Amino acid sequence: MSLQDQARAILMVNDRGGYTLPTDGLYPFQWNWDASVTALGWMTFDQKRAWEELRWLFKGQWRGGPNDGFVAQINFHAESDTYFPGPDEWGTDGAIGTQGIGTRTSSISQPPLHATMVRWMWMRACKASSSTDEQDLAKKEVMELLPRLVAHHRWWYRARDPKNTGLVVNIHPWETGMDNSPAWDEPLRHVPETTRPYARRDLGHVDASMRPPKSFYDRVVYLMDFNRAQGFDPEKILRTCPYQVNDIGIISILQRGSVDLIALCEEFGLVTEAREMAQRVQLTRASVNALWSPVWHQYVSRNAITGQLLDVPTSAGLLGAYAGFDGDVGSTIRHWLAETPYGLPSTRSTYVGFEPLRYWRGPVWQHINMLISVGLQDQGHNIEALEIRRRSEQLFSVAGFHEYYDPLSGKGLGGKTFSWTAATYLHWIADWKKK
Ligand code: DGY
Repeated sequence: MSLQDQARAILMVNDRGGYTLPTDGLYPFQWNWDASVTALGWMTFDQKRAWEELRWLFKGQWRGGPNDGFVAQINFHAESDTYFPGPDEWGTDGAIGTQGIGTRTSSISQPPLHATMVRWMWMRACKASSSTDEQDLAKKEVMELLPRLVAHHRWWYRARDPKNTGLVVNIHPWETGMDNSPAWDEPLRHVPETTRPYARRDLGHVDASMRPPKSFYDRVVYLMDFNRAQGFDPEKILRTCPYQVNDIGIISILQRGSVDLIALCEEFGLVTEAREMAQRVQLTRASVNALWSPVWHQYVSRNAITGQLLDVPTSAGLLGAYAGFDGDVGSTIRHWLAETPYGLPSTRSTYVGFEPLRYWRGPVWQHINMLISVGLQDQGHNIEALEIRRRSEQLFSVAGFHEYYDPLSGKGLGGKTFSWTAATYLHWIADWKKK
């Protein structure tokens, strides 16, 4: 079977009739940033199904109250006992904003890729190869999604940057999507370990060497319970939460999302919303240089409580070009590429905390390669952009569609038959090979 057919088959196997599991067992629900990347993959062979993915995601969007516009990291559309923490653990049932929404959700968010992915989907639908029906459908879907996307971006800016600093804060490592990055080690040291009992399920699916340790789980469970104890009130949380980080990954993805949202709003006549987002984009552009690391020559994150840079070279800090920030990460990326053979590791291999097998502490993630490569291309770093894509393609052909990969050996790691990995192949590699 060709890689393209395998990738399509993975989406179909993980399809639950409108939404797609990242992979069965390990992640048995709909995840936020996975959904957007997965929709890109569906878009290459079933446009109707692609738009459904986002419809299902936005079913979980909170309405009204201080979290109006919030989109959770997980939508629990159906029951499953193969994952911890499941819906009962988050305590969101009946919270302000959840009345009448179509699903149960967790209480934290994830990097807002959606506006960018919707714009890329819209661009694909506008191609001459799409049928008139597909183009009409895309127009209708984008018109319905736009107010929801605006509400979601407003939530980030309002709830997570109420003082208009230009740099949003996150309150939980899972919110970054890059869960156990070594960049979060320092801020997590200030978080107590929970003393309540709980039972992890991830180690029943994946070897412990590839997953975060117990000390990490004790703290993320503490933060989940802390959020619940504050009634999910953003003001209270920002006053008292022991973990508050300006994550360069979320900041870059939000920035690029807002730029794409402005373009969509202008195209669809939402002039006021476009202007409002443009102000936010300006603010972030003016503030982000505070996150530049002279040590690593790239962007890094910051402890928002102490103001200290979290001076750790992660792939999130290479998204500057994708976000359209001024800092030039091209030459830094050339160094990274010289150090490891298989794409960009999530943590630079020369860093003391690099672990090639463990989740976000070293492994390569293919969708991150795609975002960084697209950003480099936008900034005119074509050689590096193409080199990343070449190495990603090689990884797909030697190891297939895993959750993540060892950057030194190319071995597939974590969950198998992984939806966003398959979708990244379909959108970014398979199409390009046809040209
Ligand atoms: C997990 O459970 O590892 C997920 O990444 C949380 O979103």
